[in-house]
Amino acid sequence: MKISVCGKGGSGKSTVVVLLANEAQARGYRVLVVDSDESNSGLFRMLGFDHPPVPLMELVGGKQSLKQKMGQPSVLAESRIGLKDLPPQHLVQRDGLTLVSIGKILQSMEGCACPMGVLSREFLKKLALAEDELAIVDMEAGVEHFGRGVDTSIDSVLIVIEPPLESVNVGQKIHELASGIGVKNVWAIMNKVPSEEIATRLKAELQERRIEVVGCIYFDADIFSSSLEGRIPVNGVAVWETREVMDNVLSRAGLRVSG
Ligand SMILES: Nc1ncnc2c1ncn2[C@@H]1O[C@H](COP(=O)(O)OP(=O)(O)OP(=O)(O)O)[C@@H](O)[C@H]1O
Ligand SMILES: [Mg+2]
Repeated sequence: MKISVCGKGGSGKSTVVVLLANEAQARGYRVLVVDSDESNSGLFRMLGFDHPPVPLMELVGGKQSLKQKMGQPSVLAESRIGLKDLPPQHLVQRDGLTLVSIGKILQSMEGCACPMGVLSREFLKKLALAEDELAIVDMEAGVEHFGRGVDTSIDSVLIVIEPPLESVNVGQKIHELASGIGVKNVWAIMNKVPSEEIATRLKAELQERRIEVVGCIYFDADIFSSSLEGRIPVNGVAVWETREVMDNVLSRAGLRVSG
């Protein structure tokens, strides 16, 4: 299954990606985390790695070179990319968990980020996963990736929604766009929820908008304070809450609860 984690800026997408990736790995799945966010660069640290992988953009000769190939039917030579086919310098790995990165914006005036979108789309399309493999994609904030077609080969979209109304509205837009391109499963996860009362109200709001909720991660002061070091605590309440989310995601997707 290829699952993308989407939502408004700052809603907790990367945090949820890391929690889900650790949980899936603990259940015996081989997990590929795809960093498809061209702006933020700290996902490797949040996942416990000490350096990032060389972006796949370098594999295709860099952004300028990809720009020239953008009119061509394909920018990656392979017709199918398996986890084992990824060149070692383009990944960082720890038992059963792999991180790849599409590319980052490095300089001002370097031009638009469209090449990243093209590469993300093609990589995700050609990515072939075995039954015990899960790809979890950390998407850029907002909805532009839908405009670039990055989500076209995604099986499941998980929208991270926090209580502010703007986050709910962006979540609803993502829900519409994902459903509109035929993504099989579109779910929401409530995040940074401060109380049970707010959880109930937020869930009711999402249900009214016909957005299915697969779980809730409460505001966790440890997660917030660890973010000052760019890290996420590996144990804590959110880890338990993620178990329920993972159960719901896997059972709804028709997958085994362990890999
Ligand atoms: N459940 C939570 N409890 C407390 N703080 C949280 C929680 N989830 C995320 N945060 C905090 O919110 C901030 C944003 O989280 P994160 O970077 O995961 O969001 P994001 O959606 O990936 O942001 P961006 O749009 O910039 O990529 C961080 O400081 C993070 O620690
Ligand atoms: Mg992020």
